[in-house]
Amino acid sequence: MSVRKKILVTGGAGYIGSHTVVSLFESGYMPIIVDSFENSEKFIISNLEEIIGCNLQVHEGDCNDAEFLKGVFDLEQNIEGVIHFAAYKSVNESVIYPDKYYKNNVGSLEVLLDVMKEKSINNIVFSSSCTVYGLPDNLPVTEKSPFKKPETPYGHTKQICENLLSDNEDVLSVILRYFNPIGAHPSGKIGELPIGTPNNLVPFITQTAAGWQNKLLVFGNDYETRDGSCIRDFIHVMDLAHSHVKALEFLFNNKVSSVFNVGTGKGNSVLELVNSFEKVNNLKLNYEIAPRREGDIAEIYAETTKVNNDLDWKSIYTIDDALKDAWSWQKKLKKEKDE
Ligand code: NAD
Ligand code: WQD
Repeated sequence: MSVRKKILVTGGAGYIGSHTVVSLFESGYMPIIVDSFENSEKFIISNLEEIIGCNLQVHEGDCNDAEFLKGVFDLEQNIEGVIHFAAYKSVNESVIYPDKYYKNNVGSLEVLLDVMKEKSINNIVFSSSCTVYGLPDNLPVTEKSPFKKPETPYGHTKQICENLLSDNEDVLSVILRYFNPIGAHPSGKIGELPIGTPNNLVPFITQTAAGWQNKLLVFGNDYETRDGSCIRDFIHVMDLAHSHVKALEFLFNNKVSSVFNVGTGKGNSVLELVNSFEKVNNLKLNYEIAPRREGDIAEIYAETTKVNNDLDWKSIYTIDDALKDAWSWQKKLKKEKDE
C-alpha cells in the first residue's frame, strides 16, 4: 500500500480549507490541519472525519508563532507541501482594523515561509483573491491583468503576499486567485460559517430563507449589466477545493512557481442567483432592491484558459448544485440551533 503524502493545511478548519481537506484525502493525500479556530468551529473536524472515514491530525495554534509551526513540522515529519489558507477575510473589517489584517495575513505568511525554509519544505499553495485586480479594465480578467490600487487593506494584504511569494527564492509557490466561492459539501456536513451578520451574498440568501435574516437586500439594479444587478464568477467550493490538489501536483511535477485564476469563466448576476436559489430549492425568498453598495464593481469574471490547460482543472459543479448544497448546509445549522 502506498503511503499518503502529508500536506500541511493551515486554516484547514475554515470554509475553503475544510473542503480542501476532503479533496486532498479523496485524492490520496494525508492532510494535516493547523488552525487557531479563531474563525472556525471544532465540530467541523469531527464532521470532516465522518466524511473521510478517518481520524485527522489537528494542531491548534497560530501561524504567526514560529516555534509552534516548527514543532508541528518536527512532530509530523515528511510534510511535502503546504496549503496556506489561514488569514482573516472580511473586507469590511479590514477597513476598520487594517493593522489586524496586515499582521495576520502578511505576518503569518512571512513566519511560515521562514519556517518552511528552515525545514527544507519547498512547496506552497497560497489563497489569493480576484480582489487583487480591483476594478479591471478588460473582461474576463487574465492572470496578466495588472494589480490595481488596492481598494481595501484586505486586498492590499493579498497583493503584498503575492509579491512576497514571487520574490521568494527558497520556496516554490502556486498562487490561486479565487473568484466567488459558494456552496458546501454535498453531504451538508461542512460549509461556510459566517460570524455575525454575513457580508457575502449566498450566506445572506440562505440565512434569509432560514428566517435568520429578515430580508435580502439586492444592492443595485441599475448597473450596466443584462438585468441591472452585479455580475460575479460564482464557483462551487468543491471545485475550488479540487484546484488545490491540482496546484500541488503542478508543483511536484513541474517544480516552477505560477499564478492561476480559479473561477468558472462565466458571470452570473445577483438576481440570477436569487432566482436559481428559489427554483432549485422550491421556495420564495424575501428580497428587495436596495441602493448600490459602496465599493462594488459592476462585473468581474475569470479568464480560465491557463488553469484549464496548465492545471488540467475545470469547474464541474453548476450554480444550481452550489445553491442546493448551500441550502442543505443552512438547514442542518438551523436544525441544530432549533433543537
Ligand atoms: P475562513 O475564515 O473560513 O478560514 C480561515 C481559517 O484560518 C479559519 O479556520 C481561522 O480560524 C484560521 N486562521 C486565521 N488566522 C489564523 C492564524 N494566524 N493561524 C492559524 N489559523 C488561522 O476563510 P475562508 O473563506 O476559508 O478563506 C480561506 C482563505 O481564502 C483566506 O486566505 C481568504 O483570504 C482566501 N479567500 C477567501 C475567499 C472567500 O470568498 N471565502 C475569496 C478569496 C480568497
Ligand atoms: C457579491 C454580489 C454584492 C450581499 C467579496 C470580496 C472578495 C472575495 C469574495 C475574498 C455583489 C451583492 C451581496 C447582499 C447583495 N473575498 N450582494 N446583497 O463583494 O463580489 O467579493 O467576496 O477574497 O475579495 O470582496 O462578494 O458575496 O459580498 O457580493 O446584493 O446582502 O452580491 O453587491 O454584487 P464580492 P459578495
